[in-house]
Amino acid sequence: MKIGVDYYPEQWERKYWREDADQMKEAGVRIVRMGEFAWSRLEPQEKQYSFEWLDEAVAIFAERQIQIILCTPTCTPPQWLFEKYPEVIQMDKTGRRVPIGIRGHRCLNHPLYRQKCKDIITKLATRYRDNAWVVGYQIDNELEANHCCCPVCEEKFREFLQKKYGRIENLNQAYGNTVWSGEYSSFSQIRPPFGEHPTWLNPSYMLDFHRYASESTAEYVAFQRELIHAIDEKALITTNTWFCENMPDCYEMFADLDFVSYDNYPATALPTDEETLYSHAFHLDFMRGIKQKNFWIMEQLSGNLGSWTPMSPALQPGMLKGYSLQAIAHGADTILHFRWRTAVSGAEMFWHGILDHSNVKGRRYREFCELCQTVNQLTDLENTVISNKVAILYSSEQEYAFKIQPQVEGMHYFTQLKAYHDAFTCFGVGVDLIDWMSDLSIYDVVVAPTIFVTNHEIEHNLRQFVENGGHLILTNRSGVKDANNLCIMAPLPTVFSDIAGITVKEYDPIGPVRQRLRLAEELSENGKQTAEASLWCDIIDAEDTKVLARYGENFYQGSAAITQNQYGGGRVYYIGTVLNRRGMLALIKYMIRESGIEYVEGLPLGVEHTVRENGKEKWTFLFNNTKETQAFSWKVVSQKGADEMHQEVLKPFEMRIWKE
Ligand code: GLA
Ligand code: ZN
Repeated sequence: MKIGVDYYPEQWERKYWREDADQMKEAGVRIVRMGEFAWSRLEPQEKQYSFEWLDEAVAIFAERQIQIILCTPTCTPPQWLFEKYPEVIQMDKTGRRVPIGIRGHRCLNHPLYRQKCKDIITKLATRYRDNAWVVGYQIDNELEANHCCCPVCEEKFREFLQKKYGRIENLNQAYGNTVWSGEYSSFSQIRPPFGEHPTWLNPSYMLDFHRYASESTAEYVAFQRELIHAIDEKALITTNTWFCENMPDCYEMFADLDFVSYDNYPATALPTDEETLYSHAFHLDFMRGIKQKNFWIMEQLSGNLGSWTPMSPALQPGMLKGYSLQAIAHGADTILHFRWRTAVSGAEMFWHGILDHSNVKGRRYREFCELCQTVNQLTDLENTVISNKVAILYSSEQEYAFKIQPQVEGMHYFTQLKAYHDAFTCFGVGVDLIDWMSDLSIYDVVVAPTIFVTNHEIEHNLRQFVENGGHLILTNRSGVKDANNLCIMAPLPTVFSDIAGITVKEYDPIGPVRQRLRLAEELSENGKQTAEASLWCDIIDAEDTKVLARYGENFYQGSAAITQNQYGGGRVYYIGTVLNRRGMLALIKYMIRESGIEYVEGLPLGVEHTVRENGKEKWTFLFNNTKETQAFSWKVVSQKGADEMHQEVLKPFEMRIWKE
């Protein structure tokens, strides 16, 4: 367990470096990240290198026994590079080169840019190969799927398609290109998706473009990894990721990297209504799920966020420490806070670090010191893992397909996943968010939201999971499309109808309005038998299955909305609509009880319960993610019966950790 900070020596006069390092040491910092955007300082002119300043900074931290992660500075090529090689600048969907002077504006595929990356990375990795304090590298920064439309990328896209389809006739067939005279007679006619209206383009072609764009970024990461690895075999290698507009497929991107690292900036303004989901826990579980192992936070919330948008509210007392410990509770092993000092120049000068512009040590600094002390005492948490019985399946295919064709106003793929995650979290049940192609055999419950684009492998895996006794949740918008993103001609949920035991007669995309739903006896609590449906309503033909909820209004009043089907040794729940929070909690509680998994009773809204273990010992974490003090009694309920009742009082953002 390590706490560290992100540090940018190139942004500060040298006189501060030693002082900063001393203060970090005193606070309890064990690791720093440096060099992230420093290309112009490392190579001020083409092939004229200047590493002496970084040597000094590295030495300062090494002397103080603080480990160092260096970054390949490739997210921000220097100005001379763009002047000399303007062809490496990214091209956007209007066919224009993007303005330079910002960052991330280079074409990941351009051979000239690749050569320049190779030169600087080779210098960097060779220089610090034998330095024991330099423990690893971060590749680039927050990479998105590569949507560059320059001529080099255009050619790459064609190669991707040619490799996949072999002959143009196969591609025409796969895309259904007879519509609107879309048939190509040669691969050379295929272009990147230029234009303002992607929804006018063929969705099958668009899905392939997204797949290509993701693969392209993963290949770029692999290119950098191989360069570093060839020079320094023992270096840890990662890249820092986040939730962005064009998500690459993280399972692919991180496949050969040592661990996942995530930039964690929980919102400093808490949601005010109960329906808004807490997403920090979801994001952290997503990151752990990428490699199904513990991960790092490369950038962690340290102050008010701002610069790209107006500033967010100040961190509440306890937030800085609490959110860092929350990450640990969800499987983070090392956390670096962004950033030691708040920048005084450049575009992000209002994205606050631990030290403010005032250069006076304040409230957040003191809280950071407390955090370091706490974490430095958690040594026996090392080598503990999180093992859960519930998995939610994520698929970048669905993420892309939903973006290509939004199904109804207000319905987003991630929100669907979050809603289920949120409900299990409310009952203290740990959830793994994993790739949809993962092995499911270790789970008791699997939630597979909106398998909109399906394929034979997932159909087989889900069927087998249920046959072997698993409890599966399927939802509306499943089985709609085949792997080519073409609609399947059969009653929904098509390929999943037999395991779900139902078909959909008709659907009603109602959007953000709310409709009454009548819950079956099993789902009602304290006599309350209503909930609300919104966004989407599948009108289900449920002759042979148990009905758990029916629509309470509209022309399909009385029709089934949620069903439960016995299949093989297991069970399939089909959720034809999108439930409000009350309905969701009722459903998930029922499911948890039916499946016999362990859960927690008595958690107030916003209090999270997680467990890390090592086979012998078990650490329980209780985190108060609210602005109020929470006093409550809680107990663990399992098939063996209920545990003893515990009393707990947690201050705002307080974390309690104890070992059994
Ligand atoms: C991202 C980047 C950082 C920094 C922060 C704050 O997470 O990786 O370099 O820009 O945002 O804006
Ligand atoms: Zn390009």
